[in-house]
Amino acid sequence: MIPINRPWLSDEEKKEILMVLDEGVLTSAALEGGKRVQEFESLLRRYLNIKHVLAVNSGTSALLAALLALGLKEGDEVLLPSFTFVASANSVVAAGATPVFVDINKADYTIDTGDLARKITKKTRAIMPVHLYGHPADMDEVIELAKSNSLEVIEDACQSLGSEYRKRQTGTIGLMGCFSMYASKVLTSGEGGAITTDDDLLADRLRMIRNHGMVEGYDTRVFGLNLRLPEISAAIAKGQMKKLNEMLEKRRNNANLLTDLLTRSDFDGLITPTEPEDGHKKFNWYLYTVALDGQKAKDKINTFDPLDYASTRDLIKDKMANNAKIGVAVYYDPPVHLTPYYKELVQTRLPNQAREIPNNLRTTEWASKHVLSLPVHPLLSVRDIEYVANSFNSANENLKK
Ligand SMILES: Cc1ncc(COP(=O)(O)O)c(C=O)c1O
Repeated sequence: MIPINRPWLSDEEKKEILMVLDEGVLTSAALEGGKRVQEFESLLRRYLNIKHVLAVNSGTSALLAALLALGLKEGDEVLLPSFTFVASANSVVAAGATPVFVDINKADYTIDTGDLARKITKKTRAIMPVHLYGHPADMDEVIELAKSNSLEVIEDACQSLGSEYRKRQTGTIGLMGCFSMYASKVLTSGEGGAITTDDDLLADRLRMIRNHGMVEGYDTRVFGLNLRLPEISAAIAKGQMKKLNEMLEKRRNNANLLTDLLTRSDFDGLITPTEPEDGHKKFNWYLYTVALDGQKAKDKINTFDPLDYASTRDLIKDKMANNAKIGVAVYYDPPVHLTPYYKELVQTRLPNQAREIPNNLRTTEWASKHVLSLPVHPLLSVRDIEYVANSFNSANENLKK
């Protein structure tokens, strides 16, 4: 079985974990966090070239803390894509605001800044671009819109550690950036996350928020929760930081090889992920996501199941998973606005937007039915990537028969 992602764990992480166990301090409720938490924060701070990094216990916690730090009120709206992991929207709801879903662009599945501009209202307080799959969103346009409408920008960089936008790390461009260290991510601590900011006051506030709003013992000054990262998790993250560049390089090599092999085949309508030629976006290759959008494939498939216009994707996925035992995956179907909870939320809180769906989330709905992610994680060898490409191509050949 070749999984879609797998953590690369080695002696660095083991050594750090054993040291924590030997020292016997598993967590710290001090404002500044435990020893390993602080060590990890300073490594990530240097890597990202940002003033403050706060480690927390998940990417969701990072997003929630960032949104709480803005002091959102009921009725405030946060603009974000629906084509994302549901945590992006859930954190907005948890912070007491309303998520308003924006479409994505077909080039790289990140927020469509034209649609974003259209959806700004008097109630909008913040924009949450998501660097989906590790593809940087169009941050110049996002920042420009935010500035001209007095909005804050929180980057959901949960999938994009190591990705760059105009030579700057994603997650360091908006007011705050949020990272995840979930087990599948490019750098993991099992569960974990981090918030970044250059703003000293915000950093102080975030430090309180991750620790029940306390500063010196039981003196809750702002609303907060227990969002602390345990020391063993921080130890793993610290060990991982040492090989972050190597892990990213292996992903890039695997992705380049896969593109080379896939584009040699005759696949009508295959869209492979590509960094823009002018180099202004650099991917971390967290997820290598293709889209299957061929007319020929659609015609062929229509004879197979006239009701399911996207079954090329699903058939290839099934063949690769069941026959070749490759952990291909679909991120994300359904998109957030089509999940039962958010369907109802949009109906009740945003009836105007509900009336216009799917028209105003057209690319989102297209993408959810056409994308497929293939493994390129750093533990895969050249032979593994060849195997992935061959099984993709032969699944495609089978469909043509
Ligand atoms: C885009 C996005 N946002 C938020 C999250 C939430 O991160 P976590 O799973 O660490 O809570 C994830 C991670 O899965 C994600 O991919």
